[in-house]
Amino acid sequence: MSRTLMPGAAPLPWNRPLIGEDEIAEVLDTLRSGWLTHGPKATRLEHAVRERLGVEDAFAVTSCTAALHLAFLAAGIGAGHEVIAPSLTFCAAPNAILHVGARPVFVDIDPATLNMTPQAAQAAITPRTRAIAVMHYGGQMCDMRAFRRLADRHGLLLVEDAAHALHASRDGVPAGSTADLSTFSFYANKVAAAGEGGLLAGRGELVHQARLLGRHGIDSSAWQRHGKRNTADYEVTVPGLKYVMSDLTAALAGVQYDRLEEFTRRRADIAAAYTSALTGLPGLSTPVVLPGVEHGWFLYAVLIDPAAAPLDRDQVAAALLERHQISTSVHFKPVHLLGPYRDMAHRPLPVTEMAAARQLSLPCYPAMTDQDVDRVIHAVRQLWT
Ligand SMILES: Cc1ncc(COP(=O)(O)O)c(C=O)c1O
Repeated sequence: MSRTLMPGAAPLPWNRPLIGEDEIAEVLDTLRSGWLTHGPKATRLEHAVRERLGVEDAFAVTSCTAALHLAFLAAGIGAGHEVIAPSLTFCAAPNAILHVGARPVFVDIDPATLNMTPQAAQAAITPRTRAIAVMHYGGQMCDMRAFRRLADRHGLLLVEDAAHALHASRDGVPAGSTADLSTFSFYANKVAAAGEGGLLAGRGELVHQARLLGRHGIDSSAWQRHGKRNTADYEVTVPGLKYVMSDLTAALAGVQYDRLEEFTRRRADIAAAYTSALTGLPGLSTPVVLPGVEHGWFLYAVLIDPAAAPLDRDQVAAALLERHQISTSVHFKPVHLLGPYRDMAHRPLPVTEMAAARQLSLPCYPAMTDQDVDRVIHAVRQLWT
């Protein structure tokens, strides 16, 4: 921690995937197999997720955004409906809600975990509400037991956007196993990285409908038809979209998924090192982890209070980059302040706006060495001296 950095040290990116020989071998195997689109590798990934979460069905798709779009379509969310969601999130879920013709109703978050609370969601329920779409901020799960009770009491669809929480749990319950439909991401910077890719998991009849909608409305997959049925022997039962994950993506995603235990352990070690070294710096709050939570540590998110810290969030980010060549990131610009959402009427979201102004994500990923971790700690502490 006391080491001094040489000027011109190699830049430390905010995120970098950890790809090994197993991933490369599995992709090569797919390239040599003669089958590139959704087939045996995507089916194996779906099976692995189904088994781990104990859900009825899973469908591997092109992105978490596609999974969210399919979730709302499959559940019949549409014009005149409202979906309760956080604003401190990526725009994917709100965009999908708008795309099916419904309206996102943003509610505020808990200042400690930055997750939407069941109490805030309950206060936003109207006769038009059809769904609650939670998001597990940074990899720490929301209170899904309370959200499940709330959704059941009001007859609402419950969706978990678990893009940050592919490998996280709370009180032994894995993220993505409580909702009617859950969505995951294999985007390039996620805890299991395949460049692009997503997955929809949940209740059998809903995933069945999503699968139909995600492959043009055709009642069988290309892999099922291949060599077994006449290729013209299919029916289009609904006007669908094309969202299936290719086997090339699934080859990579599948190996990364199998390594999540190892990856999450390393992320947790880095998080623990940061928390122990940065706790107590004036105006800097390290992440609060609730009892019973197994954090997925997609993000190591600190909050910087400009009234108590020597620099504000943007100044810290700029100084880390310019003086130390360390990249950071911000999660997120609140969605209610972005383009199509700006002109809509929203309830006040003071915690969301406070957190958005103060939040900074430090590098936290398994490709980091111990020296990289020390370098970040040293750089942050230096800004506070
Ligand atoms: C909370 C959340 N949901 C959804 C997504 C979209 O994921 P994808 O890029 O796989 O569509 C992201 C991406 O960063 C995200 O952070």
